[in-house]
Amino acid sequence: MKILVTGGAGYIGSHTTVELLNNNYEVVILDNFSNSRKEVLENIKKITAKDFKFYEGDMIDKKLLRKIFSENQIDAVIDFAAFKAVGESVEKPIEYYTNNVSTVLSLLSVMKEFNCKKLVFSSSATVYGNPEVIPITEECKTGNTTNPYGTSKLFVEQILKDVYTSDNDFGISILRYFNPIGAHESGLIGEVPTGIPANIMPYISKVATKELEILSVFGDDYDTKDGTGVRDYIHVVDLAIGHIKALEKLNKENKGLFIYNLGTGVGYSVFDLIKTFEKVNNVKINYKVVERRKGDIATCYSDPQKAQKELGFTAKRNLEDMCKSAWNFEKKYHDEHK
Ligand code: WQD
Repeated sequence: MKILVTGGAGYIGSHTTVELLNNNYEVVILDNFSNSRKEVLENIKKITAKDFKFYEGDMIDKKLLRKIFSENQIDAVIDFAAFKAVGESVEKPIEYYTNNVSTVLSLLSVMKEFNCKKLVFSSSATVYGNPEVIPITEECKTGNTTNPYGTSKLFVEQILKDVYTSDNDFGISILRYFNPIGAHESGLIGEVPTGIPANIMPYISKVATKELEILSVFGDDYDTKDGTGVRDYIHVVDLAIGHIKALEKLNKENKGLFIYNLGTGVGYSVFDLIKTFEKVNNVKINYKVVERRKGDIATCYSDPQKAQKELGFTAKRNLEDMCKSAWNFEKKYHDEHK
């Protein structure tokens, strides 16, 4: 089977491409390097000792998409290509809706032209807004999103539901990620945000290499066990394997619309994360508690049962594995790029 991976040079896209190649799928990557680096492509080949086709460009470019589909018999698409910084999305809504929504419309129309009707879509737990119920199941209410990033994911989910209603020959799997962190055990691929990291794990890693001086903990007055935000951290390799399971399900069912939370079902606080990172990596993380970040919620973690039951997917790696692998990657990356 040949899979088109859009955003395949990115953090989650590259880890998923590794798992696809390890599972003997053929892969075609489309990436515009807006939030990724060319060297990732070589590192994927080093890790898997396998090759894949690559096209540089943007999903909004239908001419390019038609070229890819006419040069390759694409059986399914995994769409990662999107901007994903919550804070940045509040300042740049037009860029976020253009990049995260219009590109999917362009992809879907070309997929239809070439009768390719299997899609795994990278969504996010942010579509639940401030959850009423914890742990969160797929039946929980979505909406009341607190930023354009989350709203863009909500819009695309609605588009996918409408496309499926219009044509039941589609097989669509919507995957709602919780908090992906960590890196491949080789240390060759990992999370490299452009500029100052918005997410906590790359920030902690850069404090550990002393590239950044101190971590700001955004509030310790939430209604949680230690006052700091609680999240469902999932190892990025487990998340990647979740995509393989979702693809297998689409191949088995051939059509349908499926929605799954991809998380561990365990919530950890910011202080848990800092303490675990320090313990397993034998490093000190300087931090200071500051005021809350706008748009943040207190607690968010999943009920992962549906993915377990229907996909046979269970995240295997624990918080220590996540912290060790993140540090292993950051050390290598820092040494090679300082
Ligand atoms: C985690 C916790 C912060 C940074 C977002 C998106 C989600 C996904 C991951 C794409 C919170 C605290 C953070 C810092 C801190 N994106 N924090 N200091 O906001 O839960 O989720 O990113 O896939 O869809 O919504 O992730 O890592 O930013 O924050 O104290 O410098 O760490 O308050 O409690 P978030 P995060």
